[in-house]
Amino acid sequence: MAQRESWATRTGFILAAVGSAVGLGNIWRFPFQVGQEGGAGFVLIYLLFIALIGFPVMLAEFVIGRRTELNPVGAVKQLAAGRFRYAGWLFFTTGFLILSYYSVVAGWTFRYVLLGLQNDYVADVAGAEQQFLSVASGLDAVLFHALFMLAIIVIVGFGIRRGIELAVKVMVPAIIVIMIGMAIYAFTLEGSGEAYAYYLSPDFGYIGSEWQNILPAAAGQAFFTLSLGMGVMITYASYLGEDRNLAEDGLIIVGFDTFIALLAGLVVFPIFFSAGVNPGSPGAGAVFVTLAAAFGEISFGGLIGAIFFFTVAIAALSSAISILEVVVSYLIDEHGMDRLSATTIISVVIFLVGLPTTYDIVVLDLYDKLVNDILLVSGGFLIALFVGWEISDFAIDELEQGIGDLGSWGIAWLWLLRIPAVIGLLVVVLLGISGYYDFLTGDFAGWLEQTV
Ligand code: TRP
Repeated sequence: MAQRESWATRTGFILAAVGSAVGLGNIWRFPFQVGQEGGAGFVLIYLLFIALIGFPVMLAEFVIGRRTELNPVGAVKQLAAGRFRYAGWLFFTTGFLILSYYSVVAGWTFRYVLLGLQNDYVADVAGAEQQFLSVASGLDAVLFHALFMLAIIVIVGFGIRRGIELAVKVMVPAIIVIMIGMAIYAFTLEGSGEAYAYYLSPDFGYIGSEWQNILPAAAGQAFFTLSLGMGVMITYASYLGEDRNLAEDGLIIVGFDTFIALLAGLVVFPIFFSAGVNPGSPGAGAVFVTLAAAFGEISFGGLIGAIFFFTVAIAALSSAISILEVVVSYLIDEHGMDRLSATTIISVVIFLVGLPTTYDIVVLDLYDKLVNDILLVSGGFLIALFVGWEISDFAIDELEQGIGDLGSWGIAWLWLLRIPAVIGLLVVVLLGISGYYDFLTGDFAGWLEQTV
């Protein structure tokens, strides 16, 4: 077999991981979750999940990846005896499913760039909703889904150094700079003060009464946005040398991702409030509809909207390549396929799996909820259980490579995985399953009845 690839530089790895983390999750999903779950209270719980569970689980993924230098399926198989052996398959399936609808949503963002350039955003919400429906379903959606898949095939097909590393070196700095610029612009809008209050001062009564929904939503969001729970960070760390300080890299990655998510809120909510649209309208399309309506309202909205959606689109690209890389690295490592055919074949399958979500947004919700509220958090639960309890003797040792003696920090890390992560994630998975059951028998059943 050809020699396994590795990152050319330290910044290459960090940018790729930041590029993976920063994506639709930050700029599309985060604001719509905040809106749907009642504002600042959700933000607070989300930040707790990021710090106490997300960061330790990210280090756990790094440790597995760097130790084995393998894809997630192979890595888990190599390290785990007995019952964990097949956990890698969960990652593989989840990755498949995420990318299939992620690409569809990313396709919408490209459409919205074009709409902005033609100055075609519709100023009123009802009109914007009509416009969104025509973008998000049918032939248009299929076409842009296909184009997006094609773009990531090209990047991943070129491999680690010439493909992924090169692409993220351009894209990630651009995302950061543009988002900061947009937040400054949003600050100058009328109504920004009101928006900040909604977004930043939590209502504890609301958290108390809605925690069954807020908890799984916040945990799922934390995992989604950090690209955890399906082996992206295992895969990316598998291309890494023993001299790297994983804790430091992890902090930088988590820091950037959280910064961009919070920034996205600072961009989106003032725009909503200044255009007088309701930030709380739920659903996966909400951000597109409300933002487009707002951009239709404000001066130079077409251009500003085009820049905004373009940023979202490249953020989506740099994330999607990480998901595809997991699946591709598995086919290369375990089945000896060459990179280009692995990338192409699997992308065609992913394209097909995503097609149903272009039929109706409800189907997209079906995928998104399954992934976020159940699969990613289950993956995180298994990783925490595995690293915290099964391989803990050499996990600390591996983490210390490139850092030196961690002392009580290492112990603290293990115990965060062992108790809060394991128990917290188990609760979240159970709540997620029950919520998903309600969705299937409620909203989804209603929709099915109406359509069929
Ligand atoms: N983190 C990305 C985002 O916020 C999405 C993503 C990329 C992802 N790779 C992932 C989510 C792996 C879960 C698992 O848009």
